[in-house]
Amino acid sequence: MRRRTTPESTPTHRAWNADLVGLGFGGDYNPEQWPQDVRLEDLELMREAGVNVLSVAIFSWATIEPREGELDWTWLDETMDRLHSAGIRVALATATASPPPWLTRKHPEILPRLADGTVLHQGGRQSYAVTHPVHRDYALRMTTRIAERYRDHPALALWHVDNEIGCHVPRDFSDAAAADFRRWLADRYGSVDALNEAWGTAFWSQRYGSFDDVLPPLSAPTFANPTQQLDFDRFSSDALLDYYLDLRDTLREITPRVPVTTNLMATAHSKGMDYFSWAPELDVVANDHYTMAADPERHVDLAFSADLTRGVAGGEPWILMEHSTSAVNWQPRNTPKVPGEMLRNSLQHVARGSDAVMFFQWRQSKAGAEKFHSAMVPHAGRDSDVWRDVVTLGRALRALGEVRGSRVRSRAALVVDWPSWWGSELDSHPSQHLRYMDQVQAWYRALWRLGVTTDLVPAGADLDAYDLVVLPTTYVVSDADAARVAAAAERGATVVVTYFSGIVDPRDHVRLGGYPGAFRDLLGVRTEEFWPLQEGETVRVTGKAVGGDAVADLWTEKSRAADGTEVVAAYADGALAGRPAVTRREVGSGRAWYVATRLDEAGLGALAEQLVAEAGVAADVPAPAGVEVVRRWSQDGATSWLFAINHTAADAALGTDGTLVTGTELLTGDAVDGVLAVPAGAVRVVRVN
Ligand code: GAL
Repeated sequence: MRRRTTPESTPTHRAWNADLVGLGFGGDYNPEQWPQDVRLEDLELMREAGVNVLSVAIFSWATIEPREGELDWTWLDETMDRLHSAGIRVALATATASPPPWLTRKHPEILPRLADGTVLHQGGRQSYAVTHPVHRDYALRMTTRIAERYRDHPALALWHVDNEIGCHVPRDFSDAAAADFRRWLADRYGSVDALNEAWGTAFWSQRYGSFDDVLPPLSAPTFANPTQQLDFDRFSSDALLDYYLDLRDTLREITPRVPVTTNLMATAHSKGMDYFSWAPELDVVANDHYTMAADPERHVDLAFSADLTRGVAGGEPWILMEHSTSAVNWQPRNTPKVPGEMLRNSLQHVARGSDAVMFFQWRQSKAGAEKFHSAMVPHAGRDSDVWRDVVTLGRALRALGEVRGSRVRSRAALVVDWPSWWGSELDSHPSQHLRYMDQVQAWYRALWRLGVTTDLVPAGADLDAYDLVVLPTTYVVSDADAARVAAAAERGATVVVTYFSGIVDPRDHVRLGGYPGAFRDLLGVRTEEFWPLQEGETVRVTGKAVGGDAVADLWTEKSRAADGTEVVAAYADGALAGRPAVTRREVGSGRAWYVATRLDEAGLGALAEQLVAEAGVAADVPAPAGVEVVRRWSQDGATSWLFAINHTAADAALGTDGTLVTGTELLTGDAVDGVLAVPAGAVRVVRVN
């Protein structure tokens, strides 16, 4: 594995959008699937919609190199030239997202493997072991060729490395991965004795005499060693990143002025890659997000993904590299977007920090596995609602050009920690039904409902700027990170820690003396035993903190509050009746709360409302339920843009309570004088005076 680039050695590059006017608008463009007449029509349509940036050549390896060493660049040369003459900027891919059939036939050893030994063959996509040296050589050769061919092409704005690295194969158990895992472990631990200590191998006769004996956590008769599993998660995220780094550095050598990115999947469903550790290596963070048609609250999941992406980007503006104009093809039932939904989705991403709105894909394919996935140009052609909506969106993005480069501000932080995601869901735990992201998203949703804009930050984040800090199920925690959380409370913040947090150190060793280990003193709570509930079992929780009476399920704990810790809600029935469910303790100038159970939505909502009030982070422009309000600020703080997105079927108005919204609405051009009307399903963006 390669060493990470230090900031000093990062080359200076141009901004990806240096030549764009306003926000980016476009998508994945796959002209190799179409004949000339269609490609020519594409240009006309792109002009009509106002497209200004396209991702090209993502899945083009087999088109460029149909047989080993035989290269055909005609279509790509033509595409680059035509897009340039149309004034469209290109995010050019390395074409490596899927190896061509001849490569996997010649080198079947590059195919990835599952934990049970199943080989993932060619015929779909992404069938390569990310660590295999033979694959790496071929991928680097392709990257070099593309970079050398288009290094001076005037359309080139950004490099797009591979595609959604790790999407289908987040964990590869091949021999190549095993060899790399051993090297990674030798690097991490230095000696096999240190590895034995960290993995606790005195247990079950697991002691290793040499690194050569170590394997990935392959299918085994029973639970694999938990630290081995956690380290394999860490290693796999690093191995995927390492692949990106190798391709990126090849590009940087050839075109030091061209920025490099890869499209992440920073969502509640993407457990494989710890993107907080990836982001420093991207010149601009790019993200893909798809809503789930079956989820009635999919706009909240979208907001979560957008905020996570902004967190990963460290607050900088980012690129929405892919979403869909309407239905996708990979969910069980692929319902199209309802009228107005695509525009709302797009501008929600912009509201939360994206400087571009891009789609998969430009033109809907007529063959292949994605032919029933919507696109900017649908099968139905121009005479369609999808196309009219695309043109409308293009117009809206032009009207919002001045927002580009501005930032979202927040005083509430929700910690998202990939090692805790991996660690808390390991097998051999108190409950197999604990889902890390359920808990994170439940808190996110509660804050979203209150109109609080939340930053999603890593466990090691600087917490100085926050008045409310929430740590849901932060199972793995280092001493340093725990100390930073305690310092935030001392300094005046309201800190909230929820169940199964602070349990282990980074080696997955339990912190002894009572749970929640690392946070026990801060919270003034000591738990003797976890008390998970059976499927369908609930307990009642009473107390002012949960709005009087709430229901909890999944998890409870046999805890005791220390002197000076207030029990603000307790279990009213069940085996732990009378024991603390929610506690609060004054710490320095702040407060530390513990929530030992999974509260229902009403209980969590009531609790969140009190926390938001206590921390003083309530929304500055209150809005009716279902109307989302977010603000972006110019870097000097002199101007702000207020985005109001009405997700409901009823007309709404902001400012009626006396908060007053005045300025210019950019989508209609109307002046706003105190009250902002936001019709049902509509979006309004006000440059605030
Ligand atoms: C993404 C992928 C695209 C396309 C899209 C469909 O995961 O990057 O190539 O497959 O999903 O929703």
